Amino acid sequence: NQGMIIKNMSFKVGQTLTIVGVPKPDATNFAVNIGPDENQFTMHLNPRFNAHGDENVVVCNSYQGGNWCEEHREGGFPFVHGEEFKIVIKFTPAEFVVTLSDGSTICFPNRMAAEKYSFFSFDGEARITSFEIK
Ligand code: GAL
Repeated sequence: NQGMIIKNMSFKVGQTLTIVGVPKPDATNFAVNIGPDENQFTMHLNPRFNAHGDENVVVCNSYQGGNWCEEHREGGFPFVHGEEFKIVIKFTPAEFVVTLSDGSTICFPNRMAAEKYSFFSFDGEARITSFEIK
């Protein structure tokens, strides 16, 4: 159930990744995944409109060794069906600092502790219109 993937693109400490997209009109949730390869995610960022028993919350987690780890819930929920969102992810040595469209932030630890990740995937019901690393 994987959507778009991007591989061999490096995202390094000190850089900022900006993702722009639009949730589909009937979206229940969507996710952005960042990792060293397709089998592990150092960060899964999962806005849930109505999914997995949650309503209007952003759930973050890592997927390591074939398992989901500890969930982290923080930030607001500025996502609206059919309306453009922007997610800005700043990569510091210790954590990913995510800023959402309403200015709220999520600080998610860099659990795999690498200084560079090169695999990205998008799941669920959103159309990604821009992906930029600077
Ligand atoms: C699970 C869900 C996964 C992922 C994970 C995050 O319930 O099936 O897709 O979102 O939670 O902890």
